[in-house]
Amino acid sequence: MKPFLAPFSGIVADYPPCWFMRQAGRYLPEYRKIRESAGDFLVMCYTPDLATEITLQPIRRFGMDAAIIFSDILVVPHGLGQPLEFIKGYGPKLEPLVDEDELNLLNVERMVAFLHPVYQAIRQTRAALASHIALIGFAGAPWTLLCYMLDGNGKQDFVRSRTAIYEHPKLVERTIALLTHAIIEHLCQQIEAGADAVQIFDSWASHVPATHREMLVYQPTRTIVQALKARYPHVPVICFPRAIGAHDVQHFDNYVQPDGLSVDYTTDMAALYSSISPSVVLQGNLDPLALMASKEVICAQARALVQLMKGRPFVMNLGHGVLPQTPPEHMQALIETIRSGSA
Ligand code: CP3
Repeated sequence: MKPFLAPFSGIVADYPPCWFMRQAGRYLPEYRKIRESAGDFLVMCYTPDLATEITLQPIRRFGMDAAIIFSDILVVPHGLGQPLEFIKGYGPKLEPLVDEDELNLLNVERMVAFLHPVYQAIRQTRAALASHIALIGFAGAPWTLLCYMLDGNGKQDFVRSRTAIYEHPKLVERTIALLTHAIIEHLCQQIEAGADAVQIFDSWASHVPATHREMLVYQPTRTIVQALKARYPHVPVICFPRAIGAHDVQHFDNYVQPDGLSVDYTTDMAALYSSISPSVVLQGNLDPLALMASKEVICAQARALVQLMKGRPFVMNLGHGVLPQTPPEHMQALIETIRSGSA
C-alpha cells in the first residue's frame, strides 16, 4: 500500500507520511524557470506536459509521499465560463459575477470539456509517478470559489461576497448550488483520470458568519463528500476548512464526515487529538513561517508535532502553503526530520 494511503486504512507506521501544500511553486528555482518561459500561470495549468513536469519537480528533489496535481482552484469558475487572468504581483482577477442572468450563462458541461488538459495532466503524472507515491487531486469549496467569483479578486477581504449573503441571498444560494454540482464533476473527473485522493480547499471558511456556516460551508461540503463516497468509497476525501477553529473543526467532523481533516496552523492539534474520532486522519499543521526559520527550529517543530500525533492516523503537512521565500534545503531538512524516527 502507498504510505500516504495507509493512515486512511487506520494503519499507523513508525513515522507519518508527508506532503506539503504548494510543494510545487516559486520557492523552487526549477519552477521559476518554467514560469519565466511559459510567461502565464494559466498556460502552465492548461499545458499537460508543463503541469506534469511542475507536479513532479518537488517529488524528484525531495520524495514526498504524495504529489498534488499542479493546477488552481480558480480553473472551475474559468471552465464554467467566467473570464479569469492571473496578473504577476497581483494575483487572480475575474470579471465579477453581478446577477443571476450572468450566473445562468455558466455551464458545467462546458467546464468538463474546458478542463480536459487538467485531467490529461493527471493521467500523465500518474503514469510518470513511482507506484508508491500517491497523486492528490483537488478543488476549492463552494464558498471559497464564490468569494473569488463575486468579488473578482482577493484584495478587499471579500466584502462583496459577504454582503451578498444578506443583499442577494438568491444569487448566493444558486451560485453555491451550481458550484457544488461543478465541484463534484471536477473531482470525479480527476479520480477517473488517476487521482488517488482528493482535497477540498475552503480557504475563506472563516469569513462566513456563524449564522450561515451551515448553509454555506457544512451543507454544500457534505453534499460533495457524500457524492464522492457513494461513487468512490475507497478514495480518501480530505477537507481543509481553514481557520474555523477547533470547536468548529469538531462540528465539521461530526456533520460532514470527511476521511481526512487538514488543519491550519492557528488550530491547536492537541485539542483535536482527543475530540476528533481516531478514524479521521488529521493532516497539518506546521506554520509555513517556521519553515523559513533555522533548521534547528524546523526540526524542533516537526519533532514536537510527530510526537504529539504518535499512535494516531496522521499526515504531516503545513497549516497553509509553502511560502515563496522558503529555502529549498529547509524542505529537505523537514522531510529528513520526519523520517528520522528519532522523534
Ligand atoms: O499545492 C500545490 O502545490 C498545488 C497547486 C495549487 C496552487 N493553488 C498553485 C498556485 C493549489 C492546491 C492551489 C490552491 C489555491 N489557489 C487556493 C487554496 C489554498 C490557499 O492558498 O488558501 C487559493 C485561494 C488559490 C487562488 C490563488 N492562486 C491565489 C489567491 C493566487 C495568488 C497568490 C499567490 O500565491 O501568488 C494563486 C496563484 C498560484 N496558485 C500560484 C501557485 C503555484 C503562484 C503563481 C505564480 O507562480 O505566480
